[in-house]
Amino acid sequence: MEKINKDMTLKSIVISNPSRYRVLEKYRLDYCCGGNKTLEDACFDKSLDLEKIITEINNLKKDDTQVDVDNLSLTELVDHIDSTHHVFMKKEIPEILALLDKAVNRHKTDDLIKLNEIFHTLVDDITAHLEKEEKILFPAVRELEEFGEIKSIACFDKSTNPLATVANPINQMEMEHDAVAGLLKKINTIIDKDDFKQCTTLEILFNKLKGLEEDLHRHIHKENYVLFPKAIEKEGSSNCSCK
Ligand SMILES: [Fe+2]
Ligand SMILES: [Fe+2]
Repeated sequence: MEKINKDMTLKSIVISNPSRYRVLEKYRLDYCCGGNKTLEDACFDKSLDLEKIITEINNLKKDDTQVDVDNLSLTELVDHIDSTHHVFMKKEIPEILALLDKAVNRHKTDDLIKLNEIFHTLVDDITAHLEKEEKILFPAVRELEEFGEIKSIACFDKSTNPLATVANPINQMEMEHDAVAGLLKKINTIIDKDDFKQCTTLEILFNKLKGLEEDLHRHIHKENYVLFPKAIEKEGSSNCSCK
C-alpha cells in the first residue's frame, strides 16, 4: 500500500485506503466534516504524536472487507451508500430509541434527559436528510451518469429553473452534515462520562451510539469527499459547451 505522510489531508488518507479510518477514529481525528485538514495540523491541534500515528497507519494490513469507493461509478457509489449506511441507520435508530427510553425511565439523570433530547433532534434531522438524498439527490446522480443530464426530477428542470444544478442540493446536504456532526459531538461529551458505566442497558446504549457515530463519519466522508465532488464534476463535463 502507498505510504502516507504528514502533509496528506485526513479525507485523502481514508480515500487512499478506506481501512485507515480505524486509526483516525481511534484518535478522534475528524476525517468526516473536518477532512480538509492535514494530518500534521490535526495532530498538532489535539497534541497527538504525529510520527506514532503515521507509523500506525502505515503498518495497517490491507482490509479486503472495505469497499474502495473511489473506484466505483456514481451509480454504484449511491447504491453502496444507500444499501450500507442508510440501511444501517434505519435499523439502528429504533433500537437506540428503545434503549434510550428504557435508560431515561430507569435513571432520570439530567445527562440522560439531555442525551435523549439531542438524540431525538438527530433522528429528526437524519430522517429528513436521508429522505432528501434517496428521493432527490441519489436519483439525480443516477440520471446524470446514465444520460449526462437530469431528466425526470422536477426541481432540476432547466426550462423552469435555469439555475437548477446538482450543486444546490449538495450544498444543502453538506450543511446538514455539519449540523449532524455538531450533534454527534454533543452526544460524545455526555457518553464520555464514566458515571454511566454501572448499568448494562447504558453500556449497550453507549456502544450502539458509538457504532452509529462511527458509521455516520464514514457515511458523510464518502458523500462529502467522493460522491459530491464527482457528481458536480460529472454535471460540469456534461454541460460543457465545447462538446
Ligand atoms: Fe447519505
Ligand atoms: Fe448525507
